[in-house]
Amino acid sequence: MIVDSALGLIENTPLIELKNIYDGPGRLFGKAEFIQPGGSVKDRAALYIIRDAYKQGKLVKGQGVVEMTSGNMGAGLAVVCNQFGNPFTAVMSSGNSPQRVKMMESLGARVDLVAQVDGVPGQVTGGDIDAATVQAIALAKETGAFYVDQFNNPACVDAHFCGTGAELWQDLGDELTAFVAAVGTGGTFVGCSKYIKLQNRNIHCVAVEPSGSEVLAGKPITDAKHNMQGIGYGLMVPHWDHSLVDHYIAVTNDEAEDYRKLLAVKESLHLGFSAAANVCASIKLMQSGLLGETPVVATILCDSGLKY
Ligand SMILES: Cc1ncc(COP(=O)(O)O)c(C=O)c1O
Repeated sequence: MIVDSALGLIENTPLIELKNIYDGPGRLFGKAEFIQPGGSVKDRAALYIIRDAYKQGKLVKGQGVVEMTSGNMGAGLAVVCNQFGNPFTAVMSSGNSPQRVKMMESLGARVDLVAQVDGVPGQVTGGDIDAATVQAIALAKETGAFYVDQFNNPACVDAHFCGTGAELWQDLGDELTAFVAAVGTGGTFVGCSKYIKLQNRNIHCVAVEPSGSEVLAGKPITDAKHNMQGIGYGLMVPHWDHSLVDHYIAVTNDEAEDYRKLLAVKESLHLGFSAAANVCASIKLMQSGLLGETPVVATILCDSGLKY
């Protein structure tokens, strides 16, 4: 297989059957998003957003690109911007792991760290995200850069409607009983669920949130701090479409930690906390009986564990 550039490694990721961690009844598949060049599912959104900005004349070669990121979108944008010829600056809360800074800088990005407001290192809150967003918007304005705005940019959803969701349908089709995904901006969940429900609206679409920060499920925040970086910001994300959701499932910090270990030892997959939360939620759901006796479930293995 020959690809044109690193951009050819984005999309068309394989499904891994997670037989060792869940041996039935039913089958559990994880979509290997961590094998993309930026190391996460966010490469897809980065590619769609930059391509779309060129198409719409909002971005030209050589112009700066700025985004508030928890690190994965930053790595994806660094990969994509290098290939399109745009200098990229990531504005990130200092609560995200230093490995993320290292990766973005090694890909040629500039990284501006913003002090945390109410979170602690490894646990980034909605307040921390707001502070980083204010700084990113100001920087883009000041420098005439294109501001990516992943929380509001519709290309973020399109990437998963046209890409991830369509790929899942192509690989599993009507065999699929449920799709399970944790929510950061909501791009992955909303884009995939829209595509899947358009094919067969009986397929269950299940949103995953950290316990205590289940805002999308309509619960009050009891604990804004959690270990699942990249998801669960404790805010109603603009892309959200409640009508797509059949169930909400919460995952605790301990469960995410335990499933990271299980995925590594049983499946030889060293992944991040949101991938672990997705697998944990999928198994809870399959064991609940809500999906029938032999469900087929697909979830997202969002990023590699190397950034933690
Ligand atoms: C590690 C990780 N998992 C999951 C997600 C969620 O993806 P989305 O923003 O499409 O909801 C993100 C987003 O940044 C992430 O960084």
